[in-house]
Amino acid sequence: MHLPAHLKDKNIILVGFMACGKTYTSRELAKRLGLMRVSTDERIEEREGRSISQIFLVSGEPYFRQLEREVVKECAQRTGLVIDCGGGVAADEENFNALNATGISFYLEASPEAIHRRTKGRTDRPLLNVKDPLKKIKELLAKRDPHYRKANYVVDSNEDNIGKVAHEILHILQVHRA
Ligand code: S3P
Repeated sequence: MHLPAHLKDKNIILVGFMACGKTYTSRELAKRLGLMRVSTDERIEEREGRSISQIFLVSGEPYFRQLEREVVKECAQRTGLVIDCGGGVAADEENFNALNATGISFYLEASPEAIHRRTKGRTDRPLLNVKDPLKKIKELLAKRDPHYRKANYVVDSNEDNIGKVAHEILHILQVHRA
């Protein structure tokens, strides 16, 4: 499948909370469209030579956010990418505006319950390593949802049929007019 001509020099930007399917969907979109995929989290891990968990644990969240802003700036200078944004990226207005100016953005929307179900028992998301993760998810999502909603399109990502999200985005890309 090819991107319509008017989207050729644009980026495709996926935003949303942790575990809303950005990683799988970005891989699928990049494969189907023959584009390069960039994950802000993976870029940060490559730069630092350590995992997100280690960065949070040893250097703290403000340090991580600074790296995230730098990686966002890098991505915003490139085109033809599918960008998988870590959950905090679009919650920062400057980050979101910088990326959104380079292309077309999608919010993969999922409920707190769906996110909780998908992250339960995992330890790779430092923000959710708390006593009551569902409460934390609800609080964070309530704050972030209005930011995520600034994306060009909102796609329902509640079902565990994750291939459906990529399919829907591919369809939107075919009919989208800038
Ligand atoms: C975060 C989301 C994570 C990662 C970090 C912080 C957040 O990315 O960037 O743990 O603030 O929501 P995913 O959304 O890919 O899990």
